[in-house]
Amino acid sequence: MRIDIITVLPELLESPFEASILKRAIEKGLVEVHLHNLRDYSSNNYKQVDDYQFGGGAGMVLMIEPIDKCISELKSVRDYDEVLYMTPDGEKFTQGIANELSLKGNIIILCGHYKGVDQRVRDHFVTRELTIGDYVLSGGELAAAVVSDAIIRLLPGVLGDETSALTDSFQDNLLAPPIYTRPAEYKGWTVPEILTSGNLPKIEAWREQQAIERTEKRRPDLLDD
Ligand code: ADE
Repeated sequence: MRIDIITVLPELLESPFEASILKRAIEKGLVEVHLHNLRDYSSNNYKQVDDYQFGGGAGMVLMIEPIDKCISELKSVRDYDEVLYMTPDGEKFTQGIANELSLKGNIIILCGHYKGVDQRVRDHFVTRELTIGDYVLSGGELAAAVVSDAIIRLLPGVLGDETSALTDSFQDNLLAPPIYTRPAEYKGWTVPEILTSGNLPKIEAWREQQAIERTEKRRPDLLDD
């Protein structure tokens, strides 16, 4: 898989891909992540990429031309399955969408900034618009990092234990059950006995039951769909 991220602040997106699981995935060649500075596609001497909005109003708008140039250049080299735009008024990003996107080959992620992008970018280049939650970030970069992380960890070979993504919260619409590690007793606080019993079928049944109870209590909305 290949992810191309278009941004006015590439610095903000460097560190998430330089540590831990994402770094290892890149080193193993399981994914390529390329950051593109929108300013490099500006056609004027000031490297301008934003301008005032027609009709007046506070806040700058990312211009269509540099975005078109960047996307067109990328598309001239390879085909893309999706052009995602990170925006607070997009579709809510979920584990289901992460699963779907993890099956794609090449994707572009466009980060909004200031007031956002010229609507014509959304109309003519973007295939899917995503928000990571009902709050406004200062730009789409952190959201792009969140979406990339959620996708990349699902790629085959990225997680050490191949089954571990399947037991995450939200895969099957349930939250994950409680987990414990050694010591079995700490300050008198013990681990549920079943987990040290060695009885795998019973442990599985207990985890399933705990997952259901936790979901009913914390996120009953997940059980509706
Ligand atoms: N850009 C600003 N806020 C955002 C959000 N909540 N999700 C995605 N992109 C954003």
